[in-house]
Amino acid sequence: MESLQQIIESYDPGAPLENAWAIPAPWYTDSRLYDLELKTVFGHSWQFAARSAQLLESGRYVSTEIAGEPIVLVRGSDQKLRGFFNVCRHHAATVMTEAEGHANQLRCPYHGWTYSLEGELKGTPDFAGVCNFERESNGLAPVAVATWEKWAFARIAQMETSGSGSSPLDLSLPDFLGPTLVKQVQTLGLAALHWMERRHYIFDCNWKVFVDNYLDGGYHVPYLHKGLNSVLDYSKYMIENGEHFCLQWSPLVSQGAEAETGAVRKGERALYYWLYPNFMINYYDGLMDTNLVVPRGVDRTEVIFDFYFPDVTDAAERTRNRASIEVGQRIQEEDVAICKSVQRGLCSSSYKAGRLSVRREGGEHLFHRLLHADLVRGLAQ
Ligand code: FES
Ligand SMILES: [Fe+2]
Repeated sequence: MESLQQIIESYDPGAPLENAWAIPAPWYTDSRLYDLELKTVFGHSWQFAARSAQLLESGRYVSTEIAGEPIVLVRGSDQKLRGFFNVCRHHAATVMTEAEGHANQLRCPYHGWTYSLEGELKGTPDFAGVCNFERESNGLAPVAVATWEKWAFARIAQMETSGSGSSPLDLSLPDFLGPTLVKQVQTLGLAALHWMERRHYIFDCNWKVFVDNYLDGGYHVPYLHKGLNSVLDYSKYMIENGEHFCLQWSPLVSQGAEAETGAVRKGERALYYWLYPNFMINYYDGLMDTNLVVPRGVDRTEVIFDFYFPDVTDAAERTRNRASIEVGQRIQEEDVAICKSVQRGLCSSSYKAGRLSVRREGGEHLFHRLLHADLVRGLAQ
């Protein structure tokens, strides 16, 4: 059996796109590689954790999971947003068990320990007489949080400030996003959009199969998504790589558009932003959805879609918005089937790795190189 190191080294990140191969099949099927990714990629990157709108007032909290670890984000009495491991310092129970809500303090449901909104340990019932126990050092363990546009991100690994050899994943959120992406997204005016609905999709594939599919520069669109294809100008589809992100965009056309899709995908162009490793922003003039790709196993992936619209209060608008979500739903179903098919093929003894289209698959090339660099670093740690 190949060692994990051999599997990682079997990818050549130095090859230019025209000579490059995609990452080899075992990267999608080997559980050791999957475990390393959780630790080193998902554990060290800024991960989408909540919508900022869920955390506006002091006492509002959102609980979630990053790299399999329970996390809670809370707005403190001082208005500061903080993140913590959602793990009780007594016997490790999950402290906040609802997905979101409002609380005056954080109370563990197991033995009733309480923490302030700032994470300090306050109440410890029946704990008198315990020696060498310092309340001050038993607050909830913090995680870094930062916000960008409509979202709060969290990072569970402690920042390493050591200079050389430290990962780009050790960058602050603004540095990781970079000024180009920040500026581009700023021009979209996302403040005018409001969240309406969340949907979850389960894919029977490795998380990277979904990301590859997303980043293939529209390559699969004419074959797999006939409706979507009818509104995109496929020949003008553009792919622009940043340092840690890829923008794919396409002009939208109305002539010849399939009715259902054409009705909800209007405007100048569609923008598809991918942020390494697992967050996507899909923007069509005046509406948006985001995708969060959550690994649930080496061959299982949950993709969480959040849908945003300019008007989410008016009943007629909501009906129109829902029609747009339904079009998205059909596209997802088409992708669910192909991703499962790819995962099955990746397990075939006949398949080792594939080549990349120079015209279409530059985004995947960026993804694979970033991932390779992080896995090499993770292996060395
Ligand atoms: S585990 Fe939280 S109070 Fe005991
Ligand atoms: Fe697709």
